[in-house]
Amino acid sequence: MRVLVTADYRTLSQTAAELIVKAVRGKAGLVLGLPTGRTPVGMYDELVRLHRNQSHDFSRIRTFNLDEYAGLHAGDPNSFDTYMHRHFFDHVNIPPENTHIPHEVANYEAAIRDAGGIDLLIVGIGTNGHIAFNEPGSSFTSRTRTVNLAPETVANATKQFGNNAVPKQAITMGIGTILESRHILLLASGTAKADIVRRALHGPITESVPASALQQHPNVIAILDEEAKSRG
Ligand code: GLP
Repeated sequence: MRVLVTADYRTLSQTAAELIVKAVRGKAGLVLGLPTGRTPVGMYDELVRLHRNQSHDFSRIRTFNLDEYAGLHAGDPNSFDTYMHRHFFDHVNIPPENTHIPHEVANYEAAIRDAGGIDLLIVGIGTNGHIAFNEPGSSFTSRTRTVNLAPETVANATKQFGNNAVPKQAITMGIGTILESRHILLLASGTAKADIVRRALHGPITESVPASALQQHPNVIAILDEEAKSRG
């Protein structure tokens, strides 16, 4: 795994966006795996800026999101679908039919296969080591499925949901699905991630730390800001 350490969140976001744009330019019809959460917001802002200021073209890419809360309809303000429109899809020129969000398990893996597999997947990390919504204990060969969310994950999401209850389940790509991507970018920012980042990158490869599965992949770049790297 290559580890890039950036001075701050802004540089992390720019670095991630530049790598994505380079990949998009390098292959017509690039297939991206896309994350949600707080971490990639700056990366999407930068991609939108590159589209507006430098006319960067996204019209031929295909996208597959990593996960979605179970039971939330696309337009729910807390759905990842809404997040993607707010931060990215509504501001660039990706044809809507080229974007995919896993509202249902059925056909998601087949759609990824039909697109030729994921070329570049971007993923964040939960404070308990989850990637997408693959919570600790998830099999490294898991595929897209419905999962129960860990109490820590539900607790971390309560602020965002305000008065609404956080769903207890989600649909997520499996770790096996993620590991089949040709290239992976792992993003982590802030001191709250420092401990789990150290365990994921340098600790034992174990299903109790789902992100440690990335150590087995030949083409991973981890982009960490100084704070996320602060514990080694
Ligand atoms: C959520 C998402 C993950 C994300 C994680 C960390 O649970 N399902 O894909 O990586 O949270 O989110 P944040 O970037 O907000 O810390």
